[in-house]
Amino acid sequence: MKNPHENFIDVQHVSTLFPSRRRGHPPVVAVDNVSFSLPANESTLLTIVGESGSGKTTLTRNLLGLTPPTEGQVLYQGKDIYSMSHEEWHHYRRDVQPVFQDPYATYNPFYRIDRVLQVPIHKFGLANSRKEARQLIDEALEAVDLRPSDVLGRYPHQLSGGERQRIMLARIYLIRPKLIIADEPVSMIDASLRTVFLNMLHDLRDNYGISCIHITHNLATAYYLGGDMMIMCRGQVIEQGDMDTIIDQPQHPYTQMLISSVPSPDPQDRWERGHTSESATEIAELKTEANACVFAGRCSHVMPTCQSHRPELIPINAEQETACFLYDQDVKPVDDAKEMVREKVNSAGYS
Ligand SMILES: Nc1ncnc2c1ncn2[C@@H]1O[C@H](COP(=O)(O)OP(=O)(O)OP(=O)(O)O)[C@@H](O)[C@H]1O
Ligand code: SF4
Ligand SMILES: [Mg+2]
Repeated sequence: MKNPHENFIDVQHVSTLFPSRRRGHPPVVAVDNVSFSLPANESTLLTIVGESGSGKTTLTRNLLGLTPPTEGQVLYQGKDIYSMSHEEWHHYRRDVQPVFQDPYATYNPFYRIDRVLQVPIHKFGLANSRKEARQLIDEALEAVDLRPSDVLGRYPHQLSGGERQRIMLARIYLIRPKLIIADEPVSMIDASLRTVFLNMLHDLRDNYGISCIHITHNLATAYYLGGDMMIMCRGQVIEQGDMDTIIDQPQHPYTQMLISSVPSPDPQDRWERGHTSESATEIAELKTEANACVFAGRCSHVMPTCQSHRPELIPINAEQETACFLYDQDVKPVDDAKEMVREKVNSAGYS
């Protein structure tokens, strides 16, 4: 196993439970034993995809230090982010920057846009004079295709959603973190501006080595960004690997369902249709068996083993891992079926 210090971020067996909103129901397992790493010396684009309620935002909050996991650890250069010193935390907050879904909600409506860019300059000591600060702000705005004279001095409500989201990227450009964590960053901006925004994530990686964890429920947006992909189903990672490989040859029945439920050739349309109508709470609370496959309740290939064991991620090829017993050599569906019949006969009292 790799020494964790070789990695920039290590998510180790993170689980996050919330008390159920329904009386007498067991806790909701929002994130279920998730592990992954981002290497220190290469820039990565990782998209986490899943339906509503699959735990994407909770995992994001675990990573940003906003919601401590119930179990497991998030390590930054080998240190648990939830037990860092004040100084280490300051470094982490500079290295790891969020971009949220609704740019308007992240702005204070009473302050001009300028403040969003001035605060990090002050907080992280990026400039030595007012003049230098202004130069940095102009450069950052131009880097995201905004004219300083068009946006400076204005209030958040006077800008479009796309402009507000671009200001967030200008902020990222100023701070130059090592990692952006973007939770549904384009879901509230016009389709025409989505690609502009996603292209900027590419530019930040290619030109400044800034990695990105991109969270979305939209397969088309995920596919456009490219890179690596992690598919979450009810808190668990059920398939992961190279984006193109997974989209071309999805192995897990859940991934196959997600892809087949977006039949339109229009990529933006495909994305929206991938969203299920079940409520987030319903999906999460369907799961009651900790030792069953998280997709067993909806899987057309379900075998008896799936109801009593939890599949782990296993490599399918060099580019892809899947958590499904269909690919486990040790599981023999025929034997399982015989076992199921035997159990039914026993429970009916014939033996
Ligand atoms: N603070 C909370 N208290 C109780 N339950 C919560 C809380 N936050 C999230 N949950 C539950 O945890 C599960 C995962 O929620 P989460 O918001 O992480 O999903 P998501 O994948 O981001 O969904 P969406 O695509 O709708 O944003 C859901 O069942 C949700 O209701
Ligand atoms: S483990 Fe079983 S229930 Fe789960 S996805 Fe695979 S075949 Fe379906
Ligand atoms: Mg979310």
